[in-house]
Amino acid sequence: MTSIEPEKKKSPYVTVIALAVALLVVLLTCVPYLVSIALAESAATAEASPIFGVTIPAGYKQWEFVAPAEEAAPLNELRAVVGNRTAVDAYQDGKLPFPDGTILVKRAWKRTQSPDFASATIPGVPTTVQVMVKDAKKYAASGGWGFGRFVNGKPVDEAQHRTCFACHEARAKGHDYVFTRLAP
Ligand code: HEC
Repeated sequence: MTSIEPEKKKSPYVTVIALAVALLVVLLTCVPYLVSIALAESAATAEASPIFGVTIPAGYKQWEFVAPAEEAAPLNELRAVVGNRTAVDAYQDGKLPFPDGTILVKRAWKRTQSPDFASATIPGVPTTVQVMVKDAKKYAASGGWGFGRFVNGKPVDEAQHRTCFACHEARAKGHDYVFTRLAP
């Protein structure tokens, strides 16, 4: 009996120390990871476009696909338009105008020949991320849309942002200023 006593007393300490060490390891592993996620998120959302105050929406790379597009020379780009839930629902229901809260993002890359298959074209370096946010009241002067064009995550200048609505209004007015249709 007495020989078992010291053993019993020791084991809770061992458990506590083991738990503390495990907790420390978990913390040391997770904290830098969480910090880097937080930094990446804020970097992706921090800077707003001139005139409209539009930012790159967090998580847009996971959004649903609306349609691809391709731009001839000199830009030579591959593009993909993606939308948030509100956007995709509106597309699927054929709802026009798009409701407030709709966000459309156009991603673009240099057209690049596949290294694995000569006739295949793949996305090369990313060029721009372009964003349209619907808020009929806030953006009443531009058809209800706020615009943002970003290069390397930074908004381009005000002069470029003055061109957005003019072109979308001139060519896509009949479709709520949106060119892209849901890909069949
Ligand atoms: C000279 C015409 C023109 C100008 C200027 C222009 N766009 Fe567009 N935009 C288009 C066309 C055409 C499309 C259709 C997709 C494609 O061909 O790339 C498009 C598509 C888009 C889309 C996807 C939704 C849609 O309408 O199809 C977004 C988002 C967008 N543009 C944002 C912008 C922003 C932000 C600016 C200003 C910085 C801008 N555009 C300036 C012609 C223009």
